[in-house]
Amino acid sequence: MPHSSVSDVYPGQPAEYDWIVGEPVFDPGRHLQLETPERSWTLEALGYDETFVASQASPIAMFSPSHLLSDEGVAALQETIRLLKPHIRQAPDSHRISGYLRGTIFLSKFVRDLCRCDEITEFMGDLFGTRLAPHTMVYQQGHMNFAPDDISKPVDHWHHDFVGFDYVLMAHDPATLEGGEFKVFMGTREEGHAILDRGEELPPDRVVAPDFPGSGYACFMQGNAVFHCAAPLTKPAERVSLVNAYVSLDIDKPDPTRTFFLEATGRYAWIEDEIEPRHSWAEYARHTAWLGREKLTQLLADLPLDAGRDQSLAALRQAALDIERAITTIDTGPLPYEEMEALRRRQDEELLGN
Ligand SMILES: [Fe+2]
Repeated sequence: MPHSSVSDVYPGQPAEYDWIVGEPVFDPGRHLQLETPERSWTLEALGYDETFVASQASPIAMFSPSHLLSDEGVAALQETIRLLKPHIRQAPDSHRISGYLRGTIFLSKFVRDLCRCDEITEFMGDLFGTRLAPHTMVYQQGHMNFAPDDISKPVDHWHHDFVGFDYVLMAHDPATLEGGEFKVFMGTREEGHAILDRGEELPPDRVVAPDFPGSGYACFMQGNAVFHCAAPLTKPAERVSLVNAYVSLDIDKPDPTRTFFLEATGRYAWIEDEIEPRHSWAEYARHTAWLGREKLTQLLADLPLDAGRDQSLAALRQAALDIERAITTIDTGPLPYEEMEALRRRQDEELLGN
């Protein structure tokens, strides 16, 4: 069962989705092979300053890829992916991913149960030293990236994630692929964005491709602070990765979840699915309602009756912060990509003091 504070945030099955038929049943006892990663990189090692590090739920940026699925788990995931193939979306003009699938937890019970598995959630929370829950925005659970039809395009462009924590799980053995490497910039996201904005390449000596020894390996990261990409394939091949996101239950830290709405026309659209955009307003509102509720509950527990005017005002402002930001973002409505990026940077600066 998911953590009690989020269990009522996940919506029921929307009428628009049908479960795929004939998929395996997820069995943690047979399908998991969780192994502790060999090494980690701190936020400080990536160049983040003390203020930023203090604003994050964990001081660790990422871990080296480690086993998550057993061989039997990989076979079951690959069979599930085969059944999901008719649902893959291709967005050739995308700023980000060309081939993707979202809403997988409404299509596949195997993916849903994998993404909400307590054993993985607790394992990952122990690694990062913070309590986690599968993300309160359910389209951030079980996102899948596929090789684009046009292999000259990256599987996913350079970016940082709009969620706090996630893992990238390889469904196929990267050693069998030519190109398609998952790459990480050994610097801050701001520095990475700034270099690319100047039209320059990231310095090759500061880009690493963490080694995934095989299928079923995952890289656990604090994705909002790790500037990363998936390189183009140089030869057509099946390449599927599953990205599952989490929220930290440490609500004293600023919310790293970012949600924006893009003009769904031409090159500004990167989510072309017909269903997700219709659900995204409510999904953001539900996430915000969860966070506001948790903060108000904490206020009721913590604010003493002799708190003065300033303390009471600060406590209420803090509890309402995320709701006010969501109201502004939703009221602003869909934006062109560049304006969305400008709003994102403003919110990052305001919230993270960076
Ligand atoms: Fe990502």
